[in-house]
Amino acid sequence: MDDAILKVVDVSHSYYTKKGAVLEVIKNMSFDVKYGEFLGIVGQSGSGKTTLLKIMAGLIKPLSGKVLYKGKPVTGPTPAISLVFQEPVLFPWLTVLENVVLALKRVENISKDEMIVKAQSFLDMVGLSGFENSYPGELSGGMKQRVVLARALVTNPDVLLMDEPFSNLDPLTAISLRREIDMLRQHETLPPTSVVLVSHNVEEIVELSDRVLVLTSRPAQVTGEIVIDMAKPRDRRTPRFYEYVDAIFTLMS
Ligand SMILES: Nc1ncnc2c1ncn2[C@@H]1O[C@H](COP(=O)(O)OP(=O)(O)O)[C@@H](O)[C@H]1O
Ligand SMILES: [Mg+2]
Repeated sequence: MDDAILKVVDVSHSYYTKKGAVLEVIKNMSFDVKYGEFLGIVGQSGSGKTTLLKIMAGLIKPLSGKVLYKGKPVTGPTPAISLVFQEPVLFPWLTVLENVVLALKRVENISKDEMIVKAQSFLDMVGLSGFENSYPGELSGGMKQRVVLARALVTNPDVLLMDEPFSNLDPLTAISLRREIDMLRQHETLPPTSVVLVSHNVEEIVELSDRVLVLTSRPAQVTGEIVIDMAKPRDRRTPRFYEYVDAIFTLMS
């Protein structure tokens, strides 16, 4: 049996600039996301990571190649694949609870009451009980990113794609949110979601990933793969941790 839930098959993509020049962003990229794995993808800023995730989520159609979800082509956004952007995107005129319920309205055929109960339970899981009736404008950046996470997980996606979700948070908030992502994945009520995290932050990728793909700078290609064989939670101050970090930097340079 194929152990891949998502397959990126020979994907290439370019942008056309206003002056008519072609900017080649992704070149002949192929890799698999396996069932239940935490896949890290690390590359420098501008290397094409956001473009890659948008292609995987069905938001951009690549110029060539394809993305397969359980063997079928991804041709547009699907509730099975959730994307968390770098900047938390929430509707400012809706409460925290309403923002999460909205995600359920798009996919589930359940009663309003059931939606509220479900949204509430995911807000509890990300540590936001008590803030259901707050508006996004009243929350800190870290809390907004938690709402986004609850909204991304409430529909039980099979694949969670995360685009540098910690990069705009203050360091302490980033630390606690990284830990929580790991704990959420072990939560018994959640299905074993596959996670793809893209980041330029090598330490963050080593801390969280089971397997890491290293990208070249633009156009992005996979230049190496490293399996991180360390128990979680991982201590960044160990020699072993730094061996992995060094190995990735070597591949990036
Ligand atoms: N819609 C667009 N039109 C033209 N160029 C773009 C567009 N989106 C991104 N780019 C360019 O493509 C390159 C890769 O961007 P991106 O995928 O955002 O990289 P990363 O997320 O790794 O920083 C960058 O040089 C960026 O300026
Ligand atoms: Mg980006």
